[in-house]
Amino acid sequence: MNPGAGSTAPGRVTGKVIVVTGAARGQGAAEARALAEHGAHVVATDVVAAADVENGELDGHGDAIVYRQLDVGDSAGWAALATWLREEYGQVHGLVNNAGLAHRARLMDVELTDWERLFRVNATGPLLGIQAIAPLMRPGASIVTIGSVAAITPHYTVAYTASKWAVRALSKVASLELGPSGIRVNLVHPGYIDTPMVANAPATFRQANVDSTPLGTVGRVEDVANLIVFLLSDESAYISGAEIAVDGGFSNQAGVKALSDAVLAAAPTEAAAATGSAAPTGSAGTASGETGA
Ligand SMILES: NC(=O)c1ccc[n+]([C@@H]2O[C@H](COP(=O)([O-])OP(=O)(O)OC[C@H]3O[C@@H](n4cnc5c(N)ncnc54)[C@H](O)[C@@H]3O)[C@@H](O)[C@H]2O)c1
Repeated sequence: MNPGAGSTAPGRVTGKVIVVTGAARGQGAAEARALAEHGAHVVATDVVAAADVENGELDGHGDAIVYRQLDVGDSAGWAALATWLREEYGQVHGLVNNAGLAHRARLMDVELTDWERLFRVNATGPLLGIQAIAPLMRPGASIVTIGSVAAITPHYTVAYTASKWAVRALSKVASLELGPSGIRVNLVHPGYIDTPMVANAPATFRQANVDSTPLGTVGRVEDVANLIVFLLSDESAYISGAEIAVDGGFSNQAGVKALSDAVLAAAPTEAAAATGSAAPTGSAGTASGETGA
């Protein structure tokens, strides 16, 4: 098959064959759609059967998105996908290691089975993906792994956090080892993004994220997908080993937003004078007024 067969217009990733894992819903589905809309031939994969891909999220893109069932923790599944990719396209230009699982047990409560289940998907999955797909890549290819702000903080969900720190390390090593082959490897760290993964989290968790985010809102799947298109395109040809947060400033503020908000709430006029900005209106300078939450 011609890799560009599904592309109808010139785009930022035209003609590239790009594999996205965990693409049945959420961020992965948005990334697959965005890449297809920019001209890629997307192989969207997920552990769910094709018939169960939710809400037709991948529909409407013709041949530009092909769906293949794949459990990222299954090495035989990756081998079969690699064989199919080689026969179908000859080479692969991009891999987005997006599939992920969350589990919110705390340190003293986490069960070994859950710990291992999360590592299998969040850390082993990207390793198997890189091992299976990198041999199909040529110079100029790009791999992106989806970490999390949990990968750069002591986020309370210990199994999730530890598995994301592991995949962060994996991506750094991969950037080093695949660089001489001309393959770029970068990490993207989403903050709180509204997807099914966080839909069942406590409301207090969502609000606490908003309160800790300088931009004062949660993220959308498109916010991550736009960056993925850039990192898979040749526009980012000299970027490798980078970690880019898509989190509204959450990870940068390192807890000092609470300090800033508290001072502003206690003495809005003085604080505004000190920063040279106007005092917030309508809330007497409260933290919620400043964040827009
Ligand atoms: N939503 C957030 O707030 C947030 C924040 C930081 C990082 N992330 C990360 O972003 C990525 C995408 O998450 P999302 O928010 O879209 O979540 P989501 O739960 O909506 O989607 C995750 C997808 O991964 C798939 N998946 C699960 N196990 C799999 C397996 N064994 N093999 C293949 N696919 C599997 C699921 O079926 C699902 O389609 C994940 O790596 C997640 O850890 C999410």
